Amino acid sequence: MKLLVTGGAGFIGSNFVRYVLRERADWHIDVFDALSYAGNMANLEGLDKNRFTFTHADICDENAINDAVSSCDAVVHFAAESHNDNSLVSPWPFINTNLVGTFRVLEAVRKYDKRLHHISTDEVYGDLELDDPAKFTPETPYNPSSPYSSSKAGSDHLVRAWVRSFGVKATISNCSNNYGPFQHVEKFIPRQITEIIEGRKPKLYGNGLNVRDWIHTEDHSSGVLAILEKGVIGETYLIGASGERSNKQVVELILELMGKDPSNYEHVNDRPGHDLRYAIDASKLVKELGWHPKYTEFNSGLKDTIEWYRNNKSWWEPQKKYTEEKYRSVGR
Ligand code: NAD
Ligand code: TYD
Repeated sequence: MKLLVTGGAGFIGSNFVRYVLRERADWHIDVFDALSYAGNMANLEGLDKNRFTFTHADICDENAINDAVSSCDAVVHFAAESHNDNSLVSPWPFINTNLVGTFRVLEAVRKYDKRLHHISTDEVYGDLELDDPAKFTPETPYNPSSPYSSSKAGSDHLVRAWVRSFGVKATISNCSNNYGPFQHVEKFIPRQITEIIEGRKPKLYGNGLNVRDWIHTEDHSSGVLAILEKGVIGETYLIGASGERSNKQVVELILELMGKDPSNYEHVNDRPGHDLRYAIDASKLVKELGWHPKYTEFNSGLKDTIEWYRNNKSWWEPQKKYTEEKYRSVGR
């Protein structure tokens, strides 16, 4: 199997590359990545150079993506602009990469008749009330709130249309919030860990009661591999590990695990349009493809992640200053 992984130098993509090279000894991976601010070759350090190649290119570049797709067996498409806060300041890169870029990937897999797995997010479904017993299922109507989630929703619609109209062999997965090593410090969990390491207080948006459904990124990887190998063409699978927690609970736990007073955080301005709650019903993936998450203990996954950021300061320090400057400019 020669797999093309777009966005393979980012957080989830690089963890997926690492996972697949470990789990499938005879597979080769071509990482295709534009190395935006979120892409980092250091995320792929230490991997066997005989088992993967790297193409430095943009998915919006028709010739580059066509070349790469023509010489692979299957594509897993992670490449995206991925941060809600950035999409509120500057939506265009989200429209360009997530919509135009996904269109280019689809046209390439159509032209060369290749299998595609498209990576998406649970945020396409909008949000749930805190006391709603319902969770997101593959039947939940799309109702995205932000430029980020609406561009991902649009990309999912493109994939479904290319399956139905052109017979493209694609599957889609919508996963909940990931945590783990190599996540950019702009995101919630790494931001709080690195704020504490640098001697500042963690920062909660608004009242901190918003709920996210946390999954370790390695469980996301195993879900994607299961769908790539056993998923039914045209189907959508939700990936989640029953990890619902309020942001306040997560911040308190991080403080506690780092030996600090759990109430030593501050409230900052809320995010405009901030989704209240996400929750995934992953029973289709469990029942139909036999997938199970391994990281069912959030505390221990979080502890390992804190350790990773403690031990890899040189990895995150270059991102930290410009990220905090960006947050300061919007009062968060
Ligand atoms: P990330 O921002 O860490 O990484 C994105 C990667 O894509 C980077 O390496 C970047 O250089 C690359 N990229 C961006 N634009 C590109 C372009 N035009 N051409 C080629 N490469 C480009 O993102 P992430 O958190 O790893 O998310 C990966 C995917 O998973 C995204 O599709 C995202 O929507 C989805 N997802 C993320 C989460 C989460 O919690 N982070 C949850 C569910 C789904
Ligand atoms: P984030 O990691 O940006 O993921 P998403 O917006 O895709 O869910 O944020 C997770 C949650 O944490 C979200 O409710 C916003 C909140 N948040 C904070 O409270 N403080 C922060 O510093 C950040 C970055 C996010």
